[in-house]
Amino acid sequence: MSQQSGPATSLQDIIAHAKEYGFVFPSSEIYDGLQAVYDYGQNGVELKNNLKTAWWKSMTQLYDNIVGIDASIFMHPTTWKASGHVDGFNDPMIDNKDSKKRYRADQLLEGRAEEYAANGQQDKSAALLAETGRLLSAEDLDGVRELIISENIVCPISKTANWTEVRQFNLMFSTQVGSVADESSTIYLRPETAQGIFVNFLNVQKSGRMKVPFGIAQIGKAFRNEIVARQFIFRMREFEQMEMQFFVRPGTENEWYEYWKETRLKFHKAIGLPAEKLKYHDHDKLAHYAKAAVDIEYQFPFGFREMEGIHSRSDFDLKNHQEYSKKKQQYFDPELDESGKPYGNYIPYVVETSVGADRLFLATLSNAFVQETGEKERTYLKLHPALAPIKAAVLPLVKKDGLAEIAQDITKSLKPYFRTVYDDGAAIGKRYTRQDLIGTPFCIAVDYETKDDNCVTIRHRDTMEQERVPIAALKDKIGEQVAMERILESI
Ligand code: GAP
Repeated sequence: MSQQSGPATSLQDIIAHAKEYGFVFPSSEIYDGLQAVYDYGQNGVELKNNLKTAWWKSMTQLYDNIVGIDASIFMHPTTWKASGHVDGFNDPMIDNKDSKKRYRADQLLEGRAEEYAANGQQDKSAALLAETGRLLSAEDLDGVRELIISENIVCPISKTANWTEVRQFNLMFSTQVGSVADESSTIYLRPETAQGIFVNFLNVQKSGRMKVPFGIAQIGKAFRNEIVARQFIFRMREFEQMEMQFFVRPGTENEWYEYWKETRLKFHKAIGLPAEKLKYHDHDKLAHYAKAAVDIEYQFPFGFREMEGIHSRSDFDLKNHQEYSKKKQQYFDPELDESGKPYGNYIPYVVETSVGADRLFLATLSNAFVQETGEKERTYLKLHPALAPIKAAVLPLVKKDGLAEIAQDITKSLKPYFRTVYDDGAAIGKRYTRQDLIGTPFCIAVDYETKDDNCVTIRHRDTMEQERVPIAALKDKIGEQVAMERILESI
């Protein structure tokens, strides 16, 4: 028997499986969909909620000094002036005049650098990336265009190098509030959840009597008008972020940056992502707010890509909000420094952890996707039991002779503790397959012997091993293994 999962599996396999088994659907599909927007189906929403719960608890339940909030998507427009997004949240875009297709100029150059690296020309690849980074940092857009032309990069559709100039394209979506459509009523859909945390920094600190260092966590939707939206739910125009801003005393940010870098990697391993498919990638090109930044990359079916960012944001955001709002964003630190004086008033520095719920979902789903070949061919999702959409399926061998009733009673008795379903349609083998395909870790078979010995057979998803267990033991035996604690205790 051989197994295949993760990068060997194609993205097309994952997309097809996700649609067929109720994980992810294209948005408004009956109208041919909307590019880079997706809906989560009946199993997808359960898996995503479980990932969100794991993250939420790992931040708020495991720490005395981290609390959560839920800020609104719409914010006062000045927020985005202060945060730098109105002026600096841009991607450099270039159009091909023949195909009329639009591309991200930096991605065209990165693609060429990847080709060099794949051909063993590592030095050439590194030099091209460095030159791209230099031109972008210097905002030299003409230079970026010249580099694209000198590299002989052509549009994959028209195959020509008939390029427009490179222009900056702001990624924020805007809309109007109220009935008057003038400039002053324009607001933005938030491009990151972080600003909802910054503008509530003092509300939370004061109402929660929080002492630095402390964190504020949030899960919520963010919106970006991505120029090139592709790779399924990896790059979407509407997506969900799980962010935590950790407010620290200036001068201690480097140690907290290292702490969160390490802790976030532990989280990814705890939910079942293997160490060899995870790696750090230090940023060469920093976002407008960052002093240092590292990505945790995951080996998706299309290669290692960013899944989470950890950013040392200094006092950039709070200082700017103080300036724009004219309201002090300071914290009074009563603790004494080495010379015995209180640290006093200061604007805290921030270390941020920011992971996309959808990218975490895609990583989890692609890692779990296993295709076994050989004598017994089968496909199943090897999800961590605490993340699986359904924890147990109760299957009577046959519907008659009272077996269905026993199975229904068992289902009812387990439902309050974990997600349990009842299924009596089709042959038992087919019913096992159905559960394998959506990653249900335990199938409980009720047979004729159950009537005599009050025992059932648990069939384990990954090994297909079967064990006989008293009905009375099911709740504890399965409950133990599907509990979120199994993830939290290993972070
Ligand atoms: N507050 C910092 C921030 O937003 P980012 O690196 O731009 O940083 C953080 O985004 C995370 O959000 C990324 O690592 C990724 O997981 C997710 N993300 C960003 N853009 C996305 C998109 N268009 N579609 C899906 N996820 C996205």
